[in-house]
Amino acid sequence: MRSRELFSTAFVVCALVGLSGCKSASPPPDRLSQLIAKGSDLFFNETFGGNGRTCGTCHPAENNFTIDPAFIATLPKDNPLFVAEFIPALKENFENPALMREFGLILENLDGFADLKNKFVMRGVPHVLGLRTSVNSPGGPRTGWSGDGAPGDGSLRSFATGAVIQHFTKTLNRIPGVDFRLPTDEELDALEAFQLSLGRQEDLVLPLRLKGTVPKRGQAIFLDKKLGKCNLCHVNAGATSNLGQGSLGNANFNTGVEDLPDQPARLTTQKVPRDDGFRTPGDGTFNVPPLVEAADSGPFFHNNAIETIEGAVGFYDGEAFNKSPAGRTLAKLDPEGKGIELDGTQIVAIAAFLRVINVLENIRQSIMLLEASLAVSSSAERARLLTRAVHETNDSTRVLRGGGLHAEAVAHLQAARRLADKAVRSHFFGRKYTEEAIREQKKARAFLVE
Ligand code: HEC
Ligand code: HEC
Repeated sequence: MRSRELFSTAFVVCALVGLSGCKSASPPPDRLSQLIAKGSDLFFNETFGGNGRTCGTCHPAENNFTIDPAFIATLPKDNPLFVAEFIPALKENFENPALMREFGLILENLDGFADLKNKFVMRGVPHVLGLRTSVNSPGGPRTGWSGDGAPGDGSLRSFATGAVIQHFTKTLNRIPGVDFRLPTDEELDALEAFQLSLGRQEDLVLPLRLKGTVPKRGQAIFLDKKLGKCNLCHVNAGATSNLGQGSLGNANFNTGVEDLPDQPARLTTQKVPRDDGFRTPGDGTFNVPPLVEAADSGPFFHNNAIETIEGAVGFYDGEAFNKSPAGRTLAKLDPEGKGIELDGTQIVAIAAFLRVINVLENIRQSIMLLEASLAVSSSAERARLLTRAVHETNDSTRVLRGGGLHAEAVAHLQAARRLADKAVRSHFFGRKYTEEAIREQKKARAFLVE
C-alpha cells in the first residue's frame, strides 16, 4: 500500500513538473496517470503551431504557475513571452510590453477580437493551483478572473482552446490551421486532467490549531462574520462563497477593485480600458479566487493592483470596497450597517494568517516533492523534483520572513533547503539528505500548527 501510494504521488508530481521519463516508469500507470503525464507534456512543451508560447510560458511550475515582474525580469529577450517585442506581426494590439514588464500584465480580448485597438483588458496571470476546488458553481464552471475566460461552455477544457486563440497566434488574423492549430479533444482531456492534478485537491477546514499569536488572531478575524467577514466569500480560505444562503460555489462579486484610485497601470501613460468583468457587456463582477495559494503568488487582484498581501487585505477597509455593490450588501447584512472596518493591527493579523496557510501548503507540496524524488529512478527526474522542492521552500521562507513570522520555522526551512540542494548534487548521500530535508520540513510545520 505504502509503496503504491508513493508511486502514484510520484506520478502526479512527475506530471506536475513535466517529466517525460515518467511515461516509462513501472509498474504501468493507470489511465488517469497517463492522461496527466500527457497533459503535463502538452502544458509545458506544446506550441500548437503558433508563435512559440506554451501554457508554461505564463504558468511556469517553478514560479507557482504564474508570472510576476520579478520572474519576468529573469527571462532572456527571446523568450516567447515577449513575442510582441520581436515578431513584427504581433507588435501592435497583441500585448503591451511596458505593462507586461513593469506590472506583469497580459492583454486579453475577453469581449471578442472585433476591435483590437479599443476592446481589451489588462490582467494579471492567475496561478492554476487548486482548480479542483475553485471552478464549479451552480451556474456552471467559472474560469478566469471574471469567470467567463473560456469560450463555449466556460469549462476548464474550453479554457485551453481560448488560451491558444488568445495567446498562441502568429498573426492577429487568428486563423486556425494557419496562425495556430486548435487542441484536439484528446489533448483537451489531457490538459484538463493535468491542471486538475495541480495543488490542493480539497479545501481546508478552518479553524486550524495555529500556534502563532498573530496568525491565530488573524484567523479569528477572518472567520468573524461581524469583523473580517472574509469567510462569507472565501469559505475556508478557498474560492467558494456562502453569504448565508447556503453555498454559492465559486461565485462572482463586484468588490470595486476597478474603482481603486492610483492603480499602478493607470499611473502610466499607457492605455488601460476599464475591465467590465463577467459577460459581454460586463456586469462588473469578478470571480472569487482561493486564498491558500495567495501569499506567494502576488501581485493581487485581476489587475495586479496591489503588490503586497497586507495591501490586498487593507483593500477591504477602503472606500473602493465599502462603496461597491458587494460592500453595500455586506453592510445591509450587518446589524450595525457596517461593511468591513479593520484597523492596522487587524489587517496585518489577517495577512499573517494568509501567510501561514500559504506556507503550510508549500510545506505539504515540498514534502510531496521530496518523497516523490525518493521514488523515481532517473537522476534527472530526481533533480527536477528536488529543485521544485527548493523553490517551494524558498517561497516558504520568503513568505514567513516578509511578515516577520515564526523565526524558528524559518531556520528549519533553511536547513531543509540546504539539504535538498545537497541532495541534488550528491550521488551517494542523496537519499539521506532528502530524508533529512523531509524531517526539517516537518519540524518547521510543527512550529506553525498543532
Ligand atoms: C501569455 C500568457 C498566457 C499563456 C501563454 C497562457 N495563459 Fe492561462 N492565463 C493567463 C491570464 C492573463 C489569465 C487570466 C485570464 C482571465 O482572467 O480571463 C489566465 C488564466 C488561466 C486559467 C484560469 C484559472 C482560474 O483560476 O480560473 C487557466 C485554467 C489557464 N489560464 C490555463 C492555460 C492553459 C491551459 C494555457 C495553454 C493552452 C494557458 N493558460 C496559456 C495568461 C496566459
Ligand atoms: C463579497 C465577497 C468577498 C469578501 C467579503 C471578501 N472577498 Fe476577497 N475577493 C473577492 C473577489 C470577488 C476577489 C477577486 C476580485 C478581483 O480580482 O477583482 C477577491 C480577491 C481577494 C484577494 C486577492 C487574491 C489574488 O490571488 O489576487 C485577497 C488576498 C482577498 N480577496 C482577501 C480577502 C480578505 C482577507 C477578506 C476579508 C477581509 C476578503 N477577501 C473578503 C470576494 C470577497
